Amino acid sequence: MLLVLLATTATAQDFPIIPQPAHVQPQPGNFTITPTTRLVVTDAEDRKAAVFLNNYLQECYGIKLAMASQATKDFVRLSSRSTTSETEGYKLQVATQGVTITGNSPVGTFYGMQTLLQLLPVQQQTSLTIPAVLIEDAPRFPYRGMHLDVARHIFPVPFLKKYLDYLALHKMNYFHWHLTDDQGWRIEIKKYPNLTSVGAYRAGTIRGRYPGTGNDNTRYGGYYTQAEVKEIVAYAADRHITVIPEIEMPGHSSAALAAYPWLGCPGTGPYKVQETWGIFPDIYCAGSDSTFTFLQDVLTEVLALFPSKYIHIGGDEAPKANWRKCPRCQKRIKEEGLKNESELQSYFIHRIEKFLNSKGRTIIGWDEILEGGLTPNAVVMSWRGERGGIAAARQQHPVIMTPSSHLYFDHTQRKREDSVTMGGYTPLEKVYNYNPVPKVLSAEEAKYILGAQGNVWTEYIQHPEKVEYMIFPRMSALSEVLWAAPANKNFDDFEKRLLTQLQRYRFWDAGYSTAHFDLTADVAPAPGKNGLRVTFGAKAPGSTITYSLAGEKATQPYTAPLLVQESQQVTAYHHQHNKLKDSITLDLKLNKATGKPITIKGYISEFYAADGPFTLVNGLVNKTGNRTREALGFKSVDPQVTIDLGTAQEINTVTVHTLFDSDSWAYPPRLVEVHGSADGKSYKMIGSTTPAGPFTGKKVPVNVRIPAAKARYVKVVIKQQPRIAEGKPGAGETPWLFVDEVQVE
Ligand code: ACM
Ligand code: ZN
Repeated sequence: MLLVLLATTATAQDFPIIPQPAHVQPQPGNFTITPTTRLVVTDAEDRKAAVFLNNYLQECYGIKLAMASQATKDFVRLSSRSTTSETEGYKLQVATQGVTITGNSPVGTFYGMQTLLQLLPVQQQTSLTIPAVLIEDAPRFPYRGMHLDVARHIFPVPFLKKYLDYLALHKMNYFHWHLTDDQGWRIEIKKYPNLTSVGAYRAGTIRGRYPGTGNDNTRYGGYYTQAEVKEIVAYAADRHITVIPEIEMPGHSSAALAAYPWLGCPGTGPYKVQETWGIFPDIYCAGSDSTFTFLQDVLTEVLALFPSKYIHIGGDEAPKANWRKCPRCQKRIKEEGLKNESELQSYFIHRIEKFLNSKGRTIIGWDEILEGGLTPNAVVMSWRGERGGIAAARQQHPVIMTPSSHLYFDHTQRKREDSVTMGGYTPLEKVYNYNPVPKVLSAEEAKYILGAQGNVWTEYIQHPEKVEYMIFPRMSALSEVLWAAPANKNFDDFEKRLLTQLQRYRFWDAGYSTAHFDLTADVAPAPGKNGLRVTFGAKAPGSTITYSLAGEKATQPYTAPLLVQESQQVTAYHHQHNKLKDSITLDLKLNKATGKPITIKGYISEFYAADGPFTLVNGLVNKTGNRTREALGFKSVDPQVTIDLGTAQEINTVTVHTLFDSDSWAYPPRLVEVHGSADGKSYKMIGSTTPAGPFTGKKVPVNVRIPAAKARYVKVVIKQQPRIAEGKPGAGETPWLFVDEVQVE
């Protein structure tokens, strides 16, 4: 009897809510929602929550609750303490007589209702039993966003609504709608019909991963009418979501220039709606006043459609080559007393900002808007890591964090991706462990961090199903980053709740990635030993792992990390409930440097940081030449890589494996020098190589022959090409250097 009574009080683990609420206090007993339960709503402002709840109950369980103005039992009551405030906290009480949700405002009530949905069963039933509980909750950040690029690929209005539902279900409140780009202009502007009749369509699309395997030569495009835009904005507002439109300027504007070529600098063009990915030289002319008239006209129509206080004006990736050659732009630089083209971009953004400020709106721009001077009231969206966000916060500007390293959901979430994605590797745990407030900020500076956002660029996302595969479950992790206080976050706990969340995705009929449950392989230096330690793992319930070495037929159970001390091929097999699910083969190439202490002088790009310096001595050499997480990226630095071989050793060759891809601005180095030292202090050059082009493959191993030398410390100085040559993509810019492995033999 006692056991039965005890069993009726749930524990905190019985509430698999994502994002994790601030306080969850289980209570004895439970309550059951049935078709007779009344939905009590007294204030019109809470109707949004009531409607969402009833739609959800109807779609998922086939139940619709009758509305009532009061009830003493068998009720779900929605009410708000204040209908004027916007504070987002709420209290949710499930007791034996009914459910009471009290928001601090109708927004809070809406979120309390979202939490209630997560207490419901994840199968279809008409009697929904919920354990009694008291939940008090409020978010950490005021800006909790998701972005969607509809320019590279367009998505139908019903899917956008589904996407907004996903935001609401995760208590997110901003939808950043990337509406214009080189590959398509997607919003109807009545004053400039060519923007959509011309700018919304491209003649074809590249096939496969950039630079691709040809063009499909199939006309592609579409756009949203103003009526559809209004429908989306209203649908979002019903979910307490603000839609922020992004109109890109001055770059990423090929589609607009194709529609109205006079928007470009004289003598440039012809323009077209782009059929491939990347960065294009097409840019609005900053010297022409008609550019600004055009943009103000466009923005005037945009403002009429979007009540959002924030308007995103892009500002990223705007090559200045056309401006350098344009007499009008150069005249503007002179007349305005600007120093260079970066300041001209700042002038451009400032002029647009003044216009938008005069209409009561605030601009958001990508972190490039810091270059040439931040305009007075701009919000910075930090995407090239956190540096832009940190700088902006220190200048007392609000910041939204979207570092590509952690929050670009177009990056792959599995090491061995089976569909085409962007290069970066951003697994679930990395998203979960992201903290939007950089440690280097003071408490005062940290107040400028409004929150963060997941970005979904769609070069390789053609269909709604792929959007879902890319966002789930990472968006669920992000929702917790944005909502839960750091002390209330715990990945192990999230992982347990995630199992229920996966059932919810299925219940919502949403696709998702199971990458987190893949077989994983981790290579690390063997502590205190020569060689490598290889660890395999599999998170899925019921998993076992076996492995075999090259040449061995038999597999053996994997029970502990393997010590690998010579070149070896290791294959691990992942079995779930005794069925083979998945396998990984590591082709480890050991040499004198493998697993040895390594330091790198010279900034490693946070986009391409892989496993840090160890990546270069991890025994894994890139086989395909595709940029994977197996390489470190450097820009505008000549890295110095120092490896401690442990003892003085004979050295014959040093091989620096680099990647070459002119379309991605990635070039082999111009010079590699090897210096040797006995004590790690005084070095002597022992060899050097100037790689000779032309380079053909994507992999360029640079071999440095060492004539008879002995050294314990090997310092490899890698000198970059200074500029990308004329006629190549990114001409005049500093190239990237990718290094994948350094071998000492
Ligand atoms: C960006 O990813 N170019 C903002
Ligand atoms: Zn110009």
